[in-house]
Amino acid sequence: MSEETLSNLLKEDRRFEPPAEIAEHANLKSEAYDRARQDREAFWAEQAERLDWSQKWDRVLDWDDPPFAKWYVGGKLNAAYNCVDRHVEAGRGDKVALHWVGEPVDDKRDITYAELQDEVCRAANALLSLGVGAGDRVAIYLPMIPEAVVAMLACARIGAPHTVVFGGFSADALASRLEDCQAKVVITSDGGYRRGNPSALKPAVDEARTKTDVVEKVLVVRRTGQDLGEGGWDDAVDVWWHDVVDGASADHTPEAFDAEHPLYVMYTSGTTGKPKGILHTTGGYLVGSAYTHWAVFDLKPETDVYWCSADIGWVTGHSYLVYGPLANGVTQVMYEGVPDSPERGRWWKIIQDYGVTIFYTAPTAIRSFMKQGAEIPDRHDMSSLRILGSVGEPINPEAYVWYRHVIGGDRTPVVDTWWQTETGMIMISPLPGVTHGKPGSAMTPIPGVAAEVVDEAGEPVPDGSGGYLVLTEPWPAMLRTIWGDDERFKDTYWARFAEQGYYFAGDGAKKDDDGDIWVLGRVDDVMNVSGHRLSTTEIESALVSHPKVAEAAVVGAKDEDTGQAVCAFVILREDAGDGGDDIVKELRGHVRKEIGPIATPRQIMIVPELPKTRSGKIMRRLLRDVAEHREVGDVTTLADSSVMDLISQGIDSGRSED
Ligand code: PRX
Repeated sequence: MSEETLSNLLKEDRRFEPPAEIAEHANLKSEAYDRARQDREAFWAEQAERLDWSQKWDRVLDWDDPPFAKWYVGGKLNAAYNCVDRHVEAGRGDKVALHWVGEPVDDKRDITYAELQDEVCRAANALLSLGVGAGDRVAIYLPMIPEAVVAMLACARIGAPHTVVFGGFSADALASRLEDCQAKVVITSDGGYRRGNPSALKPAVDEARTKTDVVEKVLVVRRTGQDLGEGGWDDAVDVWWHDVVDGASADHTPEAFDAEHPLYVMYTSGTTGKPKGILHTTGGYLVGSAYTHWAVFDLKPETDVYWCSADIGWVTGHSYLVYGPLANGVTQVMYEGVPDSPERGRWWKIIQDYGVTIFYTAPTAIRSFMKQGAEIPDRHDMSSLRILGSVGEPINPEAYVWYRHVIGGDRTPVVDTWWQTETGMIMISPLPGVTHGKPGSAMTPIPGVAAEVVDEAGEPVPDGSGGYLVLTEPWPAMLRTIWGDDERFKDTYWARFAEQGYYFAGDGAKKDDDGDIWVLGRVDDVMNVSGHRLSTTEIESALVSHPKVAEAAVVGAKDEDTGQAVCAFVILREDAGDGGDDIVKELRGHVRKEIGPIATPRQIMIVPELPKTRSGKIMRRLLRDVAEHREVGDVTTLADSSVMDLISQGIDSGRSED
């Protein structure tokens, strides 16, 4: 992290006190921090009481074989029962669980908890009839439609771990995930709506099936009704959702699973070319997501209308659209489309129409709205909002203040929540009724969580300085391993500070003079583009798999809209000559095909050489200087110091494209 960033942040001295009304009725008060610190396990036992267990645990935490944790040992529960049935049994069946809003205007559906229970039971019975049993993996590749939530809960109900693959990922990316977790069934749809047009999904599943033969059945939701094309249906494999789910029985008795039974695998990018399957298990994860959703958003389930704009293809959609909110029995909004279709005020209109009280989104969205100005949101009545949340990347102070002022009418606390796919739940965040907000700071670990900022040697840094962000104690929703790769799990997260037994998160952070934490971003080769995690190596591998490419280096360069943007430096093979006129377009298309549109480089620069140290390591720092149009820094450790001149010349001569 640069000194410049550190000192800029030091100058940020705006403070926002919790509103008196929220403070007075806050779910958690300041005493919770101490209480949790004094007896962490007792605190987590107390939080677990918010769920219904078929059999109570006999030990809160088994940490005898770190880093392999077991939480709520001996406990048994069913996640879907906790998210749905128990609310119906408590007499809240008529309460709306989902106000689903489709992208086409007037395409909407309200689904009560009782209706959700029916749907989940039918889908569970349908999956059983397709031969899915407890422990079998099911992939879900769907747009933001209610069936996505139903599918996840149906899997959970029968103990089949799901792996949701973001609909924006390509057939290749889908195939590698299907193969890695050996998914037996894929649940998809004909397509979804994107900016007013149907956009096909099913063909990507068909293509993925040509690359892996693990899939036995594909369950297809009819969403757009679009033509599946010639060869777009395979009677031996494909089944319509409406044929097998709608006709299935709505009676299904949920089985109680062990607290450590796998709930889902979520793939995320790491520092190598191969995505990691992050494994979350049932009991601890559900406790963690339900507790944090209640504590961090100060949730009042009887009166709040909650909306998280994340896609279910990411962990935020798992913890804060499906498991946390539904375990807490709240009414929430789920929206299918993009923020500005068919008009730029679409989100604000949804907040107004449904009286949303808690809204959770990402800084990249906030920045794009800031660009459009206050006029559009100002036209809407958003006085129902009482709490705003931010997630996915550092929120720059100006975006924070704009969000609070323009969207929250200066009434609403903003909770800047730091966490990861691996942590499963929010770890560092203000509590809206307790903590005063500092724009740009995630503040302190929430009660029950222990984090530190440490130096190279693993020693806590003093207030006012920066270092590595680590988690110093296990937590219930922690990842249990990387699917099928315990060694990689140990190496990736626990080796760096093995002596201390800390989990290293991959982020750099700073403690300010009050000891509050400012997360500064990744210190490894992971980029954050619009709050989406991308691996430089994965994109490099994609580029190198193109026949014209000899070598590639990818860096994340600062970008006003997306936080970071993908910039690629490419050396062509000799026999490819100059690659042809369309080489940049061709390579961008190739990355899109290999990974998906989110990974498409903003910029590709064809260069004659790459800057390397004598040991052959690419010096990304220098490439970042070029990509961010800065003067190139210290080149003394380069094996060949003239390389940077060559790169600059190559770029000046026009072999690049934005
Ligand atoms: O770098 C941090 C950043 O996002 C990374 C985690 O990405 P992912 O697993 O995709 O999960 C995103 C949603 C939880 C972190 O290592 N990050 C996430 N939230 C914040 C953040 N950086 C700064 N501030 C945050 N609030």
